[in-house]
Amino acid sequence: MLRYLMVGAMGLACGPKTVVEGYQLRVIWDVNPHSEATILWTVESKENYTSLLVSKDDLFESVIEIDQINIFFEQYNNSKLFQVNENPSVAYTRLENLEPGTEYYLKILGAQKESEVFYFRTAPTDGIKKILIGGDSRSDRPNRITINQTIKEYRANNPEVIAFSHGGDYIDDGSDWRQWSHWLNDWSHTTLNGQILPIIPTRGNHEIDEILFNQVFGKPGDETNYYLTQIGILDLFTLNSEISVLGDQYTWLQNSLEEASKVEGRFRVVNYHRPAKPAVKQPASTKYWIPLFEKFDVRVALESDGHVYKRTAPIFGDSFNEDNGVIYLGEGGLGVKQRSPKNHRWFLQGGGMSFPMDHFIAAEIGDDYLHFSSMDKNGEIFDEFTISPR
Ligand SMILES: [Fe+2]
Repeated sequence: MLRYLMVGAMGLACGPKTVVEGYQLRVIWDVNPHSEATILWTVESKENYTSLLVSKDDLFESVIEIDQINIFFEQYNNSKLFQVNENPSVAYTRLENLEPGTEYYLKILGAQKESEVFYFRTAPTDGIKKILIGGDSRSDRPNRITINQTIKEYRANNPEVIAFSHGGDYIDDGSDWRQWSHWLNDWSHTTLNGQILPIIPTRGNHEIDEILFNQVFGKPGDETNYYLTQIGILDLFTLNSEISVLGDQYTWLQNSLEEASKVEGRFRVVNYHRPAKPAVKQPASTKYWIPLFEKFDVRVALESDGHVYKRTAPIFGDSFNEDNGVIYLGEGGLGVKQRSPKNHRWFLQGGGMSFPMDHFIAAEIGDDYLHFSSMDKNGEIFDEFTISPR
């Protein structure tokens, strides 16, 4: 077949300044995680033809072959002059019309070899599910790798984990492909026996190169990088704090929250990078979203960027409010040096808390509750709470 006649091979070092380990295969979710996914991997050059085999069985007896017509290639962007023409390319395709709660096996065919078998599972429509959450993995690479390995162990013991919602600041310089390459290499430590953990990506302030961000993550939310992911009773709004928080994004958020709030029994959670209720810095422009959060009963706001662990008291109208408040959670610890929080802020007291701690969070999505468990880099739970209907 044509694909075997083409020259080149996958998985080799791609240029002298970048080390690509394996295929850097990733699965990205934004909208419709029950039936759609973006599949991306790294190729040596866009002339290097590859195809992707997709199958519902691991023997590849009923194969859908995604051919060159449906695979898009782009050279990873570089704004660094010394990198010109040395970056490899991203290959990506969007899978649609998938069945929920179903395993899809993937194999990349290069000219001279084929990849091992990987697979991912689409979001299931029933049963208990967990998504993992965390942000800020840019500067402490040993801890980043440790946490990724812990995530893999956690998956082994918690097969109900279906995706990872990353809050941004993956790397230090988002315009440097080489740092992305390291991040993608490190992310492979989360893969469990070939099962890829889908990423729900958020853009951070270090992802200053939106072209490269969109190449790495497959243009989530049609390149706006804000979108709604619905899983079970969870409505997860991923927002983009790196563009205007007003204008189109504000209108979209207002309309989407209003629409979502009309459906009984669902829980609204938002995720964005720069904190509206920070433990370390001053409030970011995301604070302009707070009236929408409060009006439409957002339960939890996931934040990053501060480099501490934080869980605020429930906040409504800048006051403690157990009945109607929003809890702001996170602030980043997937592999960054931790900072000292400003614990005198009222919302970090009286039920709130903040301290330096590498961490990631599991959100269990039940039939009528969300349960959040915060874990250290070794997977030990140090904080947990439940969100119930109100
Ligand atoms: Fe940040």
